[in-house]
Amino acid sequence: MGAFDFVKIFRVNKSISIDLGTANILIYDKQRKKIVLNEPSVVARDRKTGKLIAVGKEAREMLGKTPDSIQAIKPLQDGVIADIDSTKEMITYFIHKIYGNSLFKPEVMICVPIEVTSVERKALFDAVRGAKKTYIIEEGRAAIIGSGVDISQPEGSMVIDIGGGSTDIAILSLDEIIASKSIRIAGNKFDDDIVKYVKRKYNLLIGDRTAEKIKKELASALEVQNPEILEIKGRDLETGIPNIVEINENEIYEAIEESLFQIVAATKEVLEKCPPELAADILDNGIIMTGGGSLIKNFIDMMEKEVGIKVFLSPNPLDSVVLGGGAAFDNKKLLRTLQMKEN
Ligand SMILES: Nc1ncnc2c1ncn2[C@@H]1O[C@H](COP(=O)(O)OP(=O)(O)OP(=O)(O)O)[C@@H](O)[C@H]1O
Ligand SMILES: [Mg+2]
Repeated sequence: MGAFDFVKIFRVNKSISIDLGTANILIYDKQRKKIVLNEPSVVARDRKTGKLIAVGKEAREMLGKTPDSIQAIKPLQDGVIADIDSTKEMITYFIHKIYGNSLFKPEVMICVPIEVTSVERKALFDAVRGAKKTYIIEEGRAAIIGSGVDISQPEGSMVIDIGGGSTDIAILSLDEIIASKSIRIAGNKFDDDIVKYVKRKYNLLIGDRTAEKIKKELASALEVQNPEILEIKGRDLETGIPNIVEINENEIYEAIEESLFQIVAATKEVLEKCPPELAADILDNGIIMTGGGSLIKNFIDMMEKEVGIKVFLSPNPLDSVVLGGGAAFDNKKLLRTLQMKEN
């Protein structure tokens, strides 16, 4: 036995938090105080045997490019678990990838979409059978803690988490969710909007990954004076051959405008469900926006303008959920409000 294995066996207290996102899966190690895994939530299988061929980054490269014998699957879709077996396998694979066959039994915090069913919760508990204790926390709660907000006070705070598959909006007080709403309009929907727009306007077919690239580089939540321009490549639907067109920032705004406003509308709905005392707090403290989707240019300003309340971008939009899940281990009162399974 090497010295490293020896240390591993005696490192008994281990707490990890897992953000099971539609787009990305992240693992935070509380003792090492860092994010130890950040990979796309994708698995690739052999269509005939069902065997895993690749997981994470490697599997993502295969999306949309696989031969018929390989199937690339996103186990989580629209912010819910679409394929529980693949989800389980993905979690097991990643935990093993980081920690190998060490003997520790970790405490695990799984961050899940607000609307996960009880069947799915049970399946997730099963998925991490090697754990000493498994907790389940809603992403909204984790996201706001991970953005540095103290939710244990009798004071209202509000978060909008715009991920890949879903936007989760929640108002919290005293560690618990007071009002919430989850809609399936987030990053992936913006990508779809862009694909459709380019097809309609330019007769050009582009893939999801090209659309995502355009979104990250060019999308804006407000119309601007001097729009930036980008060349995009796709397949011309008339001639059937590859073609290049130029597209500008305001066109992308036009493409995603409706989805942006659906997120605004859902935010207003949650605010309407808020008890008056907490509404006063939110007016004072503002709203936190987080998740990859909140990185769209000018989204913070646009939201602020539409709801008339100060809006702040989380200090770590892509990591807030997993960091908040890790921080939740330190809040004994909050832990008591979470569903937990001991092995
Ligand atoms: N700079 C950026 N500008 C615009 N969108 C971005 C940017 N960076 C990432 N995104 C988008 O954010 C989304 C991923 O965000 P995130 O990692 O928060 O989602 P997730 O947690 O995996 O999904 P969910 O919370 O819905 O399960 C993707 O749609 C991605 O394209
Ligand atoms: Mg998320």
